[in-house]
Amino acid sequence: MNFQWYPGHMTKAKRMMQEDIKLIDVVIELVDARIPYSSKNPDIDELAKNKSRIILLNKYDLANEEETKKWRSWYEEKGFFVAMVNSKTGKGVKEVHAVIQAACKEKIERDRRKGILNRPVRAMIVGIPNVGKSTFINSFAGKACAKTGNRPGVTKGKQWIRLNKNVELLDTPGILWPKFEDQAVGQRLAYIGSIKDEILNVTELALGLISFLKKNYSKLLMERFSLEEEMEEVKILEKIAEIRGCRLKGNELDYEKAANLLMDEFRNGRIGRITLEFPES
Ligand code: G4P
Repeated sequence: MNFQWYPGHMTKAKRMMQEDIKLIDVVIELVDARIPYSSKNPDIDELAKNKSRIILLNKYDLANEEETKKWRSWYEEKGFFVAMVNSKTGKGVKEVHAVIQAACKEKIERDRRKGILNRPVRAMIVGIPNVGKSTFINSFAGKACAKTGNRPGVTKGKQWIRLNKNVELLDTPGILWPKFEDQAVGQRLAYIGSIKDEILNVTELALGLISFLKKNYSKLLMERFSLEEEMEEVKILEKIAEIRGCRLKGNELDYEKAANLLMDEFRNGRIGRITLEFPES
């Protein structure tokens, strides 16, 4: 998925989000567990103020487990309800029901005091492109995908998925924009494949990733590519090209091919479970 946000696009998304948020009790924001800061939308805190908030650290199968736990505590300290999920396999997805009930406890109690019993909590999924929103909704809603149709008094065209007697989910996720201004954020989004490689210099990107891995996950890097000693980034890319047989016509090493290969292996988790940013920094 490519990020092609420009001011008009963003204003429209923001307006839609403002409308949708009025209809719901709890905002469930998906972030990528490999970059829980960089994949978080900068404006959602303002847009969703006064709502219950849940953060799902999605794709946690690809992130370092210890770091993901640290991020969970970090967000919990900031007042969010947090869960770690793998939407692709469904791991941790069922547990989100309990998290929703916990996040909406006050609302449920308020309803009860007013004599309103069993009014389902209304939730919506939001997140930047490619973070796994559709995959999560499919996994979470499963077979319970019965649409409840338009609700009286509610914006026309909105479809709700009744998950059970306690929860209704807005069926279309809210697409949010990432933090554009920060270069480091852009680079991490590119590492995980959220920015089209065609508009990037993949060799440079791969060298940047190698530099990060050398510093933070050197054992995984060395094991994956059978490196026996510490080397400079370019030498490592050269070695990857050699051992993976990336060659141009005249038998010269093909650095770009090796760079693409490295990025693919990283994105698919084949180098190991890697988190690209840490709460303490
Ligand atoms: P979006 O709606 O937020 O744009 O994201 P979407 O669900 O389309 O998911 C984007 C990609 O992320 C998909 O991969 C999806 O399979 C993958 N994905 C979603 N959740 C998880 C997860 O928890 N773990 C892992 N490992 N991957 C996840 P894709 O390459 O576009 O398709 P495919 O490989 O599934 O065919």
